[in-house]
Amino acid sequence: MRIEKDDIVIRSAVAGDAALLKNWWNDGSVMEHAGFPKGLGTTTGEVLDRIALNKDSLGQRCIIEIDGKAVGELNYKTKEGIAYPGWKICEKEYQNKGYGTRIILMLFDFIFKDKKLNSLDAINCIRWDTMLENARAQHVYESKIGAIKTEVVENAWKDQMGVWRTAVNYEITREAFYALHSDL
Ligand SMILES: CC(C)(COP(=O)(O)OP(=O)(O)OC[C@H]1O[C@@H](n2cnc3c(N)ncnc32)[C@H](O)[C@@H]1OP(=O)(O)O)[C@@H](O)C(=O)NCCC(=O)NCCS
Repeated sequence: MRIEKDDIVIRSAVAGDAALLKNWWNDGSVMEHAGFPKGLGTTTGEVLDRIALNKDSLGQRCIIEIDGKAVGELNYKTKEGIAYPGWKICEKEYQNKGYGTRIILMLFDFIFKDKKLNSLDAINCIRWDTMLENARAQHVYESKIGAIKTEVVENAWKDQMGVWRTAVNYEITREAFYALHSDL
């Protein structure tokens, strides 16, 4: 897939992105938000295997580009009319500048409108989560995207250091999304 708006491009990852993804995934400062403060310790081969899944799946792992520079990644999968995405701006100098909000809005508009993605079951809801500590992400989801916080799950999962983490779950329906973002 490829979607583009002004200075932002979101496109499916290809084999040529493996080295970049490996660097991000092995960097603890990038992966802390996902519970891997020491990084994933992955190999280029393992990353290539993950990228290869793009071929056979409606769900995709994508690269986020701003002004032609790869600055982060996102992914999504769908099941029974619900989409499950995730995202991160890995290059820190691109965080906190409004890009994340724009990227999420672009992605959700694509997920709700793309014919192929909606061909099996129409996607009417998007669900994702974040860690309790990620106050910035929660602010973006609640105040800028307009998502509903559906649940706070204490001790939902154990991170790489064996520390229990609390998950904050979010969702937004097609109807609510376009009621809030009618300009899309
Ligand atoms: C979370 C993420 C997608 C947000 O995108 P972003 O481009 O950084 O965010 P934006 O610039 O669009 O918006 C940031 C907002 O959060 C606010 N903010 C910044 N730090 C904050 C904090 N510690 N607590 C609360 N709000 C905060 C900003 O003031 C701004 O809100 P405002 O416009 O109302 O003033 C991005 O920072 C990111 O990818 N981070 C690393 C990985 C990650 O956390 N991924 C999400 C996991 S669920």
